[in-house]
Amino acid sequence: MVSPLKVGLAGLGTVGASVVRLIDQQREALAARCGRPIVIVAVSARSKSKNRGINLRKMRWVSDPVKLASDPGIDVFVELIGGAGNPARAAVTAAFKAGKSVVTANKALLAHHGIALAELAEKCHVALNFEAAVCGAIPTVKTLREGLAGNSITRIYGILNGTCNYILTRMAQEKLAFAECLKEAQRLGYAEANPSFDIEGHDTAQKLSILASLTFGTRVDPESIYVEGISSITPADLNAADELGYRVKLLGVAVRTEKGIEQRVHPTMVPKESAIAQVMGVTNAVTIDAEGIAPITLVGPGAGGMATASSVISDIADIARGVRATPFGRPSAQLTISRKAPMQRHEGGYYISMLAVDKPGTAATIAKRLAQQSISLESIVQRHRGPHGGDSPKRSGPVPVILITYATTEDAVRRALGAVKRDKVILGDPQLIRIEKN
Ligand code: HSE
Repeated sequence: MVSPLKVGLAGLGTVGASVVRLIDQQREALAARCGRPIVIVAVSARSKSKNRGINLRKMRWVSDPVKLASDPGIDVFVELIGGAGNPARAAVTAAFKAGKSVVTANKALLAHHGIALAELAEKCHVALNFEAAVCGAIPTVKTLREGLAGNSITRIYGILNGTCNYILTRMAQEKLAFAECLKEAQRLGYAEANPSFDIEGHDTAQKLSILASLTFGTRVDPESIYVEGISSITPADLNAADELGYRVKLLGVAVRTEKGIEQRVHPTMVPKESAIAQVMGVTNAVTIDAEGIAPITLVGPGAGGMATASSVISDIADIARGVRATPFGRPSAQLTISRKAPMQRHEGGYYISMLAVDKPGTAATIAKRLAQQSISLESIVQRHRGPHGGDSPKRSGPVPVILITYATTEDAVRRALGAVKRDKVILGDPQLIRIEKN
């Protein structure tokens, strides 16, 4: 009789409760696939009395997760507490020191301490598995670390935050305002406790930092990521994007350039026909460009109890089978420090929307400033005057002007728009959305 893999699980929120449920439902299939049963023997959470709709009777209750992590009765510690600090960090460290492998869904812990923890896991000859930390049920970590181990990847980009994609989808399809869609996302339970973490792009940045490390063999470094959220996007931008053949998504992008690894998170216009543009609602997607093969796009549920539990259990199953990969796909000592590619030198197309003063010479001034920075235009649209604009050529009032540029640099665009502003031919600040071609 083979011995079961004995699991200690800390954190019984939505994901933890789903892990308990799914391991129970899949008991026989898991035993067959792994060659041994997987049994949760002990659990830890803040409240013992809370009704979670799961059966914990056969499991030992250990109130301190750090104690559970080094409990002699467990083989593997599953950390679903969350947060970059303690008790999650202390518990994972304790588990390694006690010779236990760890499975975690904790993106913040990995983004901030991933390398130190990977080093410790390697030193202790145990596994640190974190498929659930990025994109819920989509096997992004395994795809990068194992499935594409023989490929040279040039770019990875994706929709890594369900809340933002839900908001942008609703705004575009239902012509709703940002604030209303955010409230809906919160009501449906997609958003983080502090939704600014989602909408300002920080959740995406933490996930991107993990993917970039796996992709390019660099040390996880969320600080080197340029981050811009979606709160300035208006229904008018989404409408204009649609008319021009694009959709707007919050993307995390990591790309190898001559100047280093460029890592950025920002609202992005993607061609309507691209795979990533088809991804709607809370769904996540990741596109991987590797040399010699057509792009691969993985699409699936990025958040929610069962989606995240699915990845947690696949990581536990690897440990049950005795499979142990280096956490970031190569020994931590070989991970390089990524040279941060400065955003000013980012090259690509741009969508620029501005409110122009409606008088003779405005278009010429804008064109001159763009030409001075060698920016070439793919398209230019001037909207009709509002109902009070009249037909007089002398009439001065603001009119929306939308430009799409060919590939240029961030620096050139910023300089041109700065000059246009100083020329006083536009009102307010222009809206600027980068374009990512497939
Ligand atoms: N708030 C996150 C999202 C949850 O919306 O994608 C999963 O990390």
